[in-house]
Amino acid sequence: MPTSVIAGIGMYVPQQVVTNHDLMQYMDTTDEWIQERTGIQQRRYAHRTEETTTTMGVAAAQQAIERAGLTPQDIDFIVFATLSPDYYFPGCGVLLQRAMGMRQIGALDVRNQCSGFVYAISVADQFIKTGMYKNILVVGAEKHSFGLDFSTRGRNVSVIFGDGAGAVVLQANEEPNRGILSTHLHSDGNEAEILAMYNPGTHANKWKPELADFGDAAMGQMFVTQPMLDKEQFYPNMDGPAVFKTAVVKFPEVIMESLNANGLTPQDLQLLIPHQANLRISQFVQQRLKLRDDQVYNNIQQYGNTTAASVPIALCEAWQEGRVKNGDLVCLAAFGSGFTWASALLRW
Ligand code: ACO
Repeated sequence: MPTSVIAGIGMYVPQQVVTNHDLMQYMDTTDEWIQERTGIQQRRYAHRTEETTTTMGVAAAQQAIERAGLTPQDIDFIVFATLSPDYYFPGCGVLLQRAMGMRQIGALDVRNQCSGFVYAISVADQFIKTGMYKNILVVGAEKHSFGLDFSTRGRNVSVIFGDGAGAVVLQANEEPNRGILSTHLHSDGNEAEILAMYNPGTHANKWKPELADFGDAAMGQMFVTQPMLDKEQFYPNMDGPAVFKTAVVKFPEVIMESLNANGLTPQDLQLLIPHQANLRISQFVQQRLKLRDDQVYNNIQQYGNTTAASVPIALCEAWQEGRVKNGDLVCLAAFGSGFTWASALLRW
């Protein structure tokens, strides 16, 4: 049975750097508060540009495909993870297929928010293991800056997020002891509303008796009302402390699950790439697993939390800096809205 190796990796972040001081123009916050609670110093915004989630995904994908020594024509399948798609539908996968002039291959969009990229890797890995595809493009990309509440009301969320994209080419490999060893996926929908954005969605537009006056014409219409706007239903809502508490339990759990499944321990890891949710969460996980500083990679300081893009951006920078070498044991781990959490253990 073939395994999946990362044959090429790429990333893209927009040019505009937004510092914590820049955000202070819009909301009551401080550089000290943001750095102390999250570790974030700056983030990138694609804001006020023509760039979209797809165009950023394309830039990262071009680099990954080139580094794999391939062309877009060699790609057999696309898995695109994002929670900020260009359109409500169709998804970004087909838009990327069109933009890159690819063959009429399959394109699948994965949601799963901050865990989206690790879920996407797991999906692609299954197609490779079964022999169905040889080269799969896996992309994680987000344009958060278009939809955040930059007033003081939304400051607990808006200071965290940034824009960007990362991509890998997952390729079928026959060499022993290389590639993805296992992936582990979890969810708990009981906590769905702890970190959620309600619109566009059908929940807030459920049928209500008062709509009867509109007759059949009211069926299926989207009603955007002032109370919905007032309740911030078009912005992400987050109970930060609740996310934090669960993340610091589930991250170590899912990392240990991947190590245990392969008879390995945290000491065997060359590098952990945690989803860049918050530097304090990463530090907590590092402490819990007794990992050295050189075993954990963080770059949230520069990019903020880029949700589905954070793992491939961090992995790409780690690789570019020579922190990942052939034969290294690398764990990708993520936790996010849903709640969903996931890990992938691989031998580079
Ligand atoms: N600037 C200044 N003050 C702020 C800001 C801000 N940007 N945001 C919130 N505050 C204030 C609050 O209003 C509150 O004030 P009060 O005490 O007068 O009511 C105070 O700071 C404390 O608010 P908390 O929400 O309790 O702050 P906390 O210390 O928990 O930090 C944070 C908030 C950073 C969001 C934290 O809870 C956290 O990191 N949670 C994890 C969530 C996370 O990482 N989410 C990322 C997205 S999800 C994911 O990727 C997993």
